[in-house]
Amino acid sequence: MIPSIGIRPLDASFGAELTGLRITGDVAQADFDAFLEAFHRHHVLLIRDVPNDPAAQVAFSRRMGPLEHHAAASAVHPAYPEVFCVGNYTADGITANFARGVEQWHADSSFREVPSAASLFYGAICPPEGGETCFLDAVAAYETLPDAMKARIEGLRGVHCLYTLSEWNRRHTPGRAPMDEARRRAFPPVAHPLVRTHPVSGVKSLFLCPAVISQIEGMSVADSQALIEELMDHAGQERFVYRHAWREGDLVVWDNRCTLHTASLFDHEKYLRLMFRTTVAGAA
Ligand code: SIN
Repeated sequence: MIPSIGIRPLDASFGAELTGLRITGDVAQADFDAFLEAFHRHHVLLIRDVPNDPAAQVAFSRRMGPLEHHAAASAVHPAYPEVFCVGNYTADGITANFARGVEQWHADSSFREVPSAASLFYGAICPPEGGETCFLDAVAAYETLPDAMKARIEGLRGVHCLYTLSEWNRRHTPGRAPMDEARRRAFPPVAHPLVRTHPVSGVKSLFLCPAVISQIEGMSVADSQALIEELMDHAGQERFVYRHAWREGDLVVWDNRCTLHTASLFDHEKYLRLMFRTTVAGAA
């Protein structure tokens, strides 16, 4: 069967919008294969006008691989434990995870021993302004580094730590409770290369999560922060960034193994925001 999917590049050096793909119901294998091929080629995919159907989102996501259950159990969807709710919405048994900090570039679940492969993020309720999600082409950011910097960071490993992230969130969102001991024990610090190699394409990219990395192995905290800041100054340039302004019904799928992303602020006293995230586990 000929897949019915159309592909239109986004206004950036990476990413594409897919048209003609229904993610609800039985998605034909040929369409799913075309989706996967586009995912590997473009790293960030936008699908518009997707119905609000968390069960369908879970089913579609699961075709990409086993799903993670989010570490913040209080923000999972009451009916679908694989769905992590993000935003300031608190109703219908949902208490979405609200973090006010801005510009916190990261890849999802980097604090896990095996970080996640992909995330699928659905706009259920979107503010009319603000609340964009920004994506960063971590491959181009790596490739355009000076050779001397490439040599300097080759083999270095960042220590990713959920507790470090939790404290960062507490500094930016007053009133958040400290992380409890049980979660601290469940997610001990883990080291990952600063330059990671994609398991499917083999391309190298920068794995920088400034709010999650407590330090670089073998370096002082101050030197680690200085190096990460220098790398982020390069990677965060507009030319590597796609800024997604959400419409309700948008589904954005991204590859956590070669992109970074960050939320942005919105007027949370004026507007509601509710996003559903499913997260595809990485392969060990
Ligand atoms: C995230 O940072 O994982 C969520 C992005 C967003 O809320 O826009």
